Amino acid sequence: PESRAVPESGAEFVVVANRLPVDKSVDTDGKVTWKRSPGGLVTALEPILRSHTGAWVGWSGIADSDENPDVEGIGIQAVPLSTREIAEYYEGFSNATLWPLYHDVIVKPEYHREWWNTYVEVNRRFAEAASKAAAEGAVVWVQDYQLQLVPKMLRMLRPDLKIGFFLHIPFPPVELFMQLPWRTEIVEGLLGADLIGFHLPGGAQNFLYLARRLAGQATSKGTVGVRARFGVVQVGFRTVRVGAFPISIDSGELDAKARSKEIRKRAAEIRKELGNPKTIMLGVDRLDYTKGIDVRLRALQELLEEKRIDAADTVMVQLATPSRERVESYIQMRAGIEQLVGNINGRYGEVARPVVQYLHRPVPRDDLIAFFAAADVMLVTPLRDGMNLVAKEYVACRNDLGGALVLSEFTGAAAELRTAYQANPYDLDGVKDAIVAAVEQAPEEGRRRMRALRRQVLAHDVGKWAASFLGTLADTTETEVSANRG
Ligand code: ADP
Ligand code: G6P
Repeated sequence: PESRAVPESGAEFVVVANRLPVDKSVDTDGKVTWKRSPGGLVTALEPILRSHTGAWVGWSGIADSDENPDVEGIGIQAVPLSTREIAEYYEGFSNATLWPLYHDVIVKPEYHREWWNTYVEVNRRFAEAASKAAAEGAVVWVQDYQLQLVPKMLRMLRPDLKIGFFLHIPFPPVELFMQLPWRTEIVEGLLGADLIGFHLPGGAQNFLYLARRLAGQATSKGTVGVRARFGVVQVGFRTVRVGAFPISIDSGELDAKARSKEIRKRAAEIRKELGNPKTIMLGVDRLDYTKGIDVRLRALQELLEEKRIDAADTVMVQLATPSRERVESYIQMRAGIEQLVGNINGRYGEVARPVVQYLHRPVPRDDLIAFFAAADVMLVTPLRDGMNLVAKEYVACRNDLGGALVLSEFTGAAAELRTAYQANPYDLDGVKDAIVAAVEQAPEEGRRRMRALRRQVLAHDVGKWAASFLGTLADTTETEVSANRG
């Protein structure tokens, strides 16, 4: 399909996210390129919008730009942000307040009233843009922590719309959420939606408790299931549903790509370029302190020191996409990780044969698939992660049933990927043991585990995620509301 602008009469299906699917970058000569935006949200939503006719409302990634990029098959509506708004709404409230607060306060969240005010202002702009892009009675799907006030704002502008909200990151324990000076406003903002989705039942249950305690609404009290047994909040005459919908990937597409001749050839080349080591370990992440990149480097360092892993036949590849580079905690974390890489290579590497090969840049999709296909041990060690799509991508790329997944217990994915080598990322000895078990697994044991992982990932793809969320949203019927009214 051709790229297209949002039609005059509005779209029947609208995704609203902080990011557009492509990210504009302007180099020093003023040359403009549009690249795929970083992170799991775009990975998951892009295939959904290609298969539904609809519009995507979001920010292009640079200051003061309302230019609409051409994205095949998707109507784009750019929302401009000024330099000040990027600093206060995006880097500030979204990524130095909410992000660390929702990820177990791994770094200390900062609470600034100016940042909050700008968050409110920018959420209003997104709500207005969504209101313009949506046709009468359309379905609008609002995404993630940057836009938690949009559901209520949009409902006030457009009571005709069906509004869904999905949170892509963890919803924190109640005790941590209570720190937020604007906690009631956030809960009320979300309650503007007809359906609020989280990855895990625990997040949904935390939210239900807060809807009672902070917003004073009546709620259901039973346990929430996975894609089942939804919670209910009664907001005046409206019924808001709350559920758990673990996100996934386009597993079929990745599986097919990983089987292709080109990728298999590239995977073999990668192994050769790395000097044909016995074990290739791989990490693939945005460079973020939640990802526990330091955890896996420390584990590797100790394993080398103790000679449980031999530097002569092991290579670790760490691919790290630059992320949020002006936020102070990210600057500090990057320095720490680069120092660790330097330490390990200085001590255990040889000339032309470093133990850790570290790239600080995004890797093209096909190369990434070849890295997944080549890696004997995939290291996914976040201190906290809403889902972690990388773990699922690795599994989808292993139709050969080879490889082993080391997975932090504190990812959403751990609830589904039960036969991974799971470890508590705060327990370094546990992480080391999991890595050694993965390196030394017997081939038959490895195949058994990978077969079970693949069954899960191939059966629960991103199409199923979207269908279960949107099906539940469509099902929040008039009858339910009028029954409650009656
Ligand atoms: P998050 O959303 O926090 O970034 P996820 O693991 O859920 O974490 O999603 C990350 C997405 O970004 C995945 O699709 C992954 O393949 C992609 N990605 C991460 N690091 C890189 C990299 N270095 N190069 C290319 N893509 C990457
Ligand atoms: C995570 C968040 C997304 C975000 C992505 C990339 O996946 O849940 O909302 O878009 O990281 O981060 P960035 O700040 O570059 O958009």
